[in-house]
Amino acid sequence: MYILAPSVLAADFNILGKQIKETEKAGAEYLHIDVMDGIFVPSISFGMPMISSIRAASSQFFDVHLMITQPQRYIREFVRCGADGITFHLEAVEDAGQVIREIHRAGAKAGISIKPGTALEEIYPYLPEVELALVMSVEPGFGGQPFMPEAYGRIAQLRSYIDQHHLPVKIEVDGGLGKKNVREVLGAGADICVAGSAVFKKRSISDNISHFMAAFQEYEKKNMKSDGKDR
Ligand code: DX5
Ligand code: ZN
Repeated sequence: MYILAPSVLAADFNILGKQIKETEKAGAEYLHIDVMDGIFVPSISFGMPMISSIRAASSQFFDVHLMITQPQRYIREFVRCGADGITFHLEAVEDAGQVIREIHRAGAKAGISIKPGTALEEIYPYLPEVELALVMSVEPGFGGQPFMPEAYGRIAQLRSYIDQHHLPVKIEVDGGLGKKNVREVLGAGADICVAGSAVFKKRSISDNISHFMAAFQEYEKKNMKSDGKDR
């Protein structure tokens, strides 16, 4: 089963609750929430009060992507505000194992991420401990950037490592996804697609999401045929 995680960073904050409900209705099971601190990445986005208030608008899985330094400082608070999963950056912490344990102790699913320039192998030691691995297909910090084609190879490499080691880790891909490249991203091995601009900009949200859902259905059928089991 593939999952779409619309990134609220690209939403119209004036009508945020309404737009989130539209994404849920159109079939997006996750909501991707990008938290930026202006230090780990150049920009600043939003934090706890925003997450608490949108919690009431949705029953989606709140997939919080922390692009902040020393994320361990805020894990409990993000979970208290409604985070179901917390993804942190390996580059932002000293002891990733400890951060993962702290996320689990707080009652959330743990995700680990790396920037495009960090060697993929650096996350391998932590894969047995996490539920999700996030491959960035843009330099983190801003929505609306073009997809970096180097990401395909990284997704495929991670897919084969996870499969070889029989790890129950989902691969999430974030940055520059849209109807033009979603099939290649799924083909490379992604489970969860994050999309900001491609969901909230241009046409209507339901129309935009329908393109992702069509691609998901196609690939689900393909997988059933090729190995007789759903990933
Ligand atoms: C980038 C963020 C992304 C971003 C995706 O730092 O992590 O989640 O919002 O936006 P699009 O889909 O517009 O590239
Ligand atoms: Zn993100």
